[in-house]
Amino acid sequence: MHFIHLRQASTLVLLTAAVARATLQIIPGATWTATNTGRHIQAHGAGIIEESGTYYMIGEDKTEGSAFQNINCYSSTNLVEWKFENALLSLTSSGDLGPSRVVERPKVIYNDATSTYVMYLHIDSSNYGEAKVGVATSDTVCGDYDYIGSFRPLGFESRDIGLFKDDDGSAYLLTEDRPNGLRIDALSDDYLNVTESVYLWDESIESPAILKKDGRYFMFGSHLTGWSPNDNVYSYAESLAGPWSSWAEFADDGSNTYTSQTSFILPLGDSAIYMGDRWFSTNLMRSTYIWLPLDISGTDVWMTNRVNWVPDVNAETWAAGPAENWYEGEAATLSNGAISVACSGCSGEAAAGYIGGSSGGTVSFSAVRSDATTRTTIRLKHTNGNTGERYAKISVNGVEQDIAFLSTGTGQDPGSSVIHCNLNSGSANTVVLTTDDGSYGPDIDRIMVPVK
Ligand SMILES: *[C@@H]1O[C@H](CO)[C@@H](O)[C@H](O)[C@H]1NC(C)=O
Repeated sequence: MHFIHLRQASTLVLLTAAVARATLQIIPGATWTATNTGRHIQAHGAGIIEESGTYYMIGEDKTEGSAFQNINCYSSTNLVEWKFENALLSLTSSGDLGPSRVVERPKVIYNDATSTYVMYLHIDSSNYGEAKVGVATSDTVCGDYDYIGSFRPLGFESRDIGLFKDDDGSAYLLTEDRPNGLRIDALSDDYLNVTESVYLWDESIESPAILKKDGRYFMFGSHLTGWSPNDNVYSYAESLAGPWSSWAEFADDGSNTYTSQTSFILPLGDSAIYMGDRWFSTNLMRSTYIWLPLDISGTDVWMTNRVNWVPDVNAETWAAGPAENWYEGEAATLSNGAISVACSGCSGEAAAGYIGGSSGGTVSFSAVRSDATTRTTIRLKHTNGNTGERYAKISVNGVEQDIAFLSTGTGQDPGSSVIHCNLNSGSANTVVLTTDDGSYGPDIDRIMVPVK
């Protein structure tokens, strides 16, 4: 079911103006390069906490696979361009945060009374037998956190978790208790302990996240299928203690929530943003982020799949993404050893290959058209047969950035990476890719450039 809001008509008028100012886009499932690391964002199973117009994304570092490495924090003022801030917790020599440990789904809320940021995490042994929550605190949102310890909330098993802070400052742990179901537990006033059970679903639901909208509570979560995605569901209630509605899907049936699992729901004006993980279980660092706007009307929630879309955090709204022109890699100017290579899954069945290397292979797109002078997002369709990331130095109208390209595996189906850059109105824009350290960059199938 998809429904059109009356408000969309008026939103559209506002957005016509917004589009000319900025078309920075969220591209679900792409490589998202942090602006100051040149690497894919490692904040899986993330939560978001917003403060004075800055969003902090706090999640798991999966660079080396599933075992605990770091809890990372990135910041953004527009939800599109993210800067690495700090590792809030890191590997210790032993204990809960030691080698071969499960430390997942960090969520942070702020306690106004104690002026403390409180983080909850899923803490477990590598065989998921301990099933506990961990608690850590800090004076600053992305400072170093002090790890306090772990426990089983009210004595029950706890694996995937979420947190919810209500308008009155009371806060709740959302916890998957495998033998019994999904729980909402009340936290103590200082948020450091669990005091009582508020609700228990006897259905098996994990990856819980609560959104409150117009006084109503919406719980989102997934079924239990391990790293594989399923059709995620939501339930709603007027009170956290229930009664809660039966579970319903909110994305196309059979799409497995567009191949993702719920991690967090971020309110955005009349709407909200679904934030999910597209896990790549055999190479977790290449897991990507599926963020899509939710349509919420009364108790109906729906999410449409999109290649691109435009959040506007200042107006607290969003718009559909722009149409794109594309430019084939093999048709660009190839020099310094870069050549056209066969690529069965690529458009034109060819790509620009041998970018970088010892000769500094270079691919230059010229006469790239934009209908607006604007900061925008270009999608780069690429292949990378390595297990790890490849990188390229990309210069757009002379401004250089380091951009990462996740593995696309051994097949020849291209993936997307993105670069946020300034384009000028007209056809005089240039996009040049190379490397300067002797490494090979990705093969470039084509670049997708917003028309406006
Ligand atoms: C946390 O709460 C539980 C029960 O609500 C209680 O048994 C336990 O002692 C508390 N822990 C601390 C550290 O206060």
